Amino acid sequence: KAYSAVLLAAGSGSRMAADRNKIFLTLADKAIFQYALDLFLSDSDCKQVILVGKTEEKAYFTDFLSDRVCFVVGGVERQDSVRHALAHVSEAAVMIHDGARPFVTLSELAALKAHNNAILAVPVKDTIKQVEVSGYISQTVPRDNLWGAQTPQFFETSLIQKVHQLAHSKAFLGTDDASLVEVFSEVPVTIVPGSYENIKITTPEDLIFGQAILDNRSK
Ligand code: C5P
Repeated sequence: KAYSAVLLAAGSGSRMAADRNKIFLTLADKAIFQYALDLFLSDSDCKQVILVGKTEEKAYFTDFLSDRVCFVVGGVERQDSVRHALAHVSEAAVMIHDGARPFVTLSELAALKAHNNAILAVPVKDTIKQVEVSGYISQTVPRDNLWGAQTPQFFETSLIQKVHQLAHSKAFLGTDDASLVEVFSEVPVTIVPGSYENIKITTPEDLIFGQAILDNRSK
């Protein structure tokens, strides 16, 4: 199934406390965002990659641009970055992916493509507490039906464009793209069970986990 990929790299990575945008940090001598970029380029169904970055970091991406890879300027929030990119999508389906998740695999892309609208997610492992402002626990949330959402998130382009426009016009900020489909449409989104290896590189210890995942894969 032909699709466009939106690869998000316009964050600031403040939780990494590094001196530059975390997606330019390297794991095994390769920038973090380049792992997913190479994966999408290795998938013949992926007809277009839209790299979303900050204006002031555009120069870092020039080496990666080609007839299949273009650059779009991101926005203040992740949701703004996605909306900007969606205006440039050429295909009828789109994979939206965090550049900060380097370990997604071809088989996971294939599993997503089997659906019209689907996201990767994993069952929540922790016991989840709901906490009052006082700091006291109000309840323990039953976790049997709780999943942690990941990316890629795969959608019909017309649907995800529509719900992003609605969210923008109503100043609704979701924490992922599927949440906008849930709020602004009746279209069901399928959960595709993913891998606990598909981590988002966020804080410094994630670089250690990331290196361990790479070492394990190269065994
Ligand atoms: O900050 P966080 O890790 O949750 O960001 C998730 C992804 O969204 C990252 O790949 C980041 O580069 C991207 N992002 C973006 N535009 C923003 C904020 C985040 O493209 N304004």
